[in-house]
Amino acid sequence: MTERLDNKTALVTGGSRGIGRAIALELARLGAKVAINYRSASDDADKVVEELKALGTDAVALKGDVSNKDEARGLVHQVVEQWGRLDILINNAGITKDRTLKKLTDDDWEDVINTNLNSVYYTVSAAMPSMMENQFGRIVNISSFVGQAGNFGQSNYSASKGGVIAFTKSAAQELARHNITVNAIAPGFTLTEMLAKVPDEIQQKILDKIPMRRFGQPEEIARAVVFLAADGDYITGQQINVNGGVYM
Ligand SMILES: NC(=O)c1ccc[n+]([C@@H]2O[C@H](COP(=O)([O-])OP(=O)(O)OC[C@H]3O[C@@H](n4cnc5c(N)ncnc54)[C@H](OP(=O)(O)O)[C@@H]3O)[C@@H](O)[C@H]2O)c1
Repeated sequence: MTERLDNKTALVTGGSRGIGRAIALELARLGAKVAINYRSASDDADKVVEELKALGTDAVALKGDVSNKDEARGLVHQVVEQWGRLDILINNAGITKDRTLKKLTDDDWEDVINTNLNSVYYTVSAAMPSMMENQFGRIVNISSFVGQAGNFGQSNYSASKGGVIAFTKSAAQELARHNITVNAIAPGFTLTEMLAKVPDEIQQKILDKIPMRRFGQPEEIARAVVFLAADGDYITGQQINVNGGVYM
């Protein structure tokens, strides 16, 4: 049976919709207090906070751009100030800016690396002191199968997501002695607004390449994330693929 998270606090970056929202709901169902972060869509974030509170737990929405080091670290500090501790950190916020290398601009590169990869360093470095003091921490970083396999038109995104996996393994080695686990989930194509941006005919071509012949649901990713947070006491430095077989 999954461990309850009644006395635990969690921060989910990019929790206002998609996979982040599903993770936040799953954590709240197990009793954790959940702070969701968003960058711009405050209406979406407020709605998720209502959904979380309806599950009987405390919840808050924190605005902040994770690609900005002060704002990213500020999110962690706000949770620790409000609830006294941060137990579970889910680095989920992410963006795509797809272009082939011929057309990619420096801004496309930097925005994606700052949002998807540098943000993970910012929040983890901010969370470490409190987690070390408590001798407890569960960190889950959302990567992508593209970080393992690469993808046409996604050199910036694949570099950021591959970096997340490498960072996860190094951080796991350094933090294990403090009972802080660091793991990554690598989703395949999942039904969120990120995937909705992909034109229909390309989505059809993608489906043909997925052995399970369907896209993932955000809840299917969330269940694996929460397994690591709630039951993964002896799991660290791992990447778990939740991808319908698109990359093995
Ligand atoms: N969907 C897929 O097929 C798929 C596959 C593999 C991996 N992933 C990864 O899974 C994660 C979630 O993806 P998703 O599909 O759920 O994306 P999504 O539906 O586009 O949602 C992205 C979330 O991240 C937030 N966000 C974006 N940039 C941010 C920033 N700079 N600072 C703070 N928040 C920011 C957004 O908030 P605002 O709306 O306020 O900007 C939103 O809450 C990402 O890391 C993504 O790379 C997704």
